[in-house]
Amino acid sequence: MRIGPHLLRNNVFVAPMAGVTDRPFRQLCRALGAGYAVSEMAAANPRLRDSVKTTRRTDHAGEPEPRAVQIAGADAAMMAEAARFNVDRGAQVIDLNMGCPARKVCNRFAGSALMADETLAIGIVEAVVRAVAVPVTLKMRTGPSPDRRNAVRLACLAEQAGVAMITVHGRTRADRYAGRAEYDTIAAVKAAVRVPVVANGDIDSPAKAQAVLARTGADAVMIGRAAMGRPWIFREVAHFLATGETLAAPSLAEIHALLRAHLLDHYAFYGEHVGVRTARKHVGWYLAGTPGWAALRDEFNRIESPELQLASIDRLHEALATLRHPGEPDAANDGSFARRQAA
Ligand SMILES: Cc1cc2nc3c(=O)[nH]c(=O)nc-3n(C[C@H](O)[C@H](O)[C@H](O)COP(=O)(O)O)c2cc1C
Repeated sequence: MRIGPHLLRNNVFVAPMAGVTDRPFRQLCRALGAGYAVSEMAAANPRLRDSVKTTRRTDHAGEPEPRAVQIAGADAAMMAEAARFNVDRGAQVIDLNMGCPARKVCNRFAGSALMADETLAIGIVEAVVRAVAVPVTLKMRTGPSPDRRNAVRLACLAEQAGVAMITVHGRTRADRYAGRAEYDTIAAVKAAVRVPVVANGDIDSPAKAQAVLARTGADAVMIGRAAMGRPWIFREVAHFLATGETLAAPSLAEIHALLRAHLLDHYAFYGEHVGVRTARKHVGWYLAGTPGWAALRDEFNRIESPELQLASIDRLHEALATLRHPGEPDAANDGSFARRQAA
């Protein structure tokens, strides 16, 4: 699988998720088997560029190649300028966001709202492709609403305009996250273009990834929400796709070590004050459903220092480790802290 000149390790990708797929999380997912990761959206608006948030989002130090940055906006000249700005700061792929239904983005007629105005959408693609020498990719939904699924037409126009890859989330903008992702439109996009197509939406297991690839004929899968608190899903999916074998789930000890390493990286990236606060959601995802976590969560969320957060996690891990019955396997195949304990 290639994006322009970049040969990827495999075809299992991390979805861009604002507020989640920061550099520490992307690096963890890559280390655990993801073939490619796209950074969170960086604002195209130059007034926002010096914000701490945007500066962090464009920090790629130590990130494996190719470094991909997603941009969003509704003004072609501003998007072209944002693409150049990011390429100057090390981006090797520019991804255009026409897939995000977030109000913050859509109110300004960017993200998936752009799909409703094909002329504007393609104008942006053309302007960005002209502006930079690196591959430009497009992420979109299946259309603005179920009665207007225009992903195939947009994909063809985007291909003519020079995009190097197209990712499709199998929902319309109006669906937001309701219902199930549908894969027929993704299959139709794949059949209509020659550039690689990535299937996205509701992929949460190796078997689902395989089924979606088979159903759509897509070149790769992209996983978002199922990776939250479960970054090892990438090695599980990649291994299954490569060999047909189910990889053993991580042991309790490995999950504990991964969570600890993730947190240390997270604090180093954000600094202690912000890091402690933004770490809470990640810890909550890792531990959701784990025995003892519900009772501990409120107390954990009041902790104000990295050392105390780590100590709290260590104590929970010790308690869980003693809970395990002797002779019981350390891991069950679903891989979550919680379900493994319940098994
Ligand atoms: C918290 C969150 C933030 C997201 N932020 C972005 C974003 O910045 N850009 C984007 O293109 N998609 C964004 N998405 C959409 C995901 O990339 C993905 O398309 C969607 O979640 C469907 O995939 P999944 O079912 O595997 O989660 C976001 C999704 C979530 C849950």
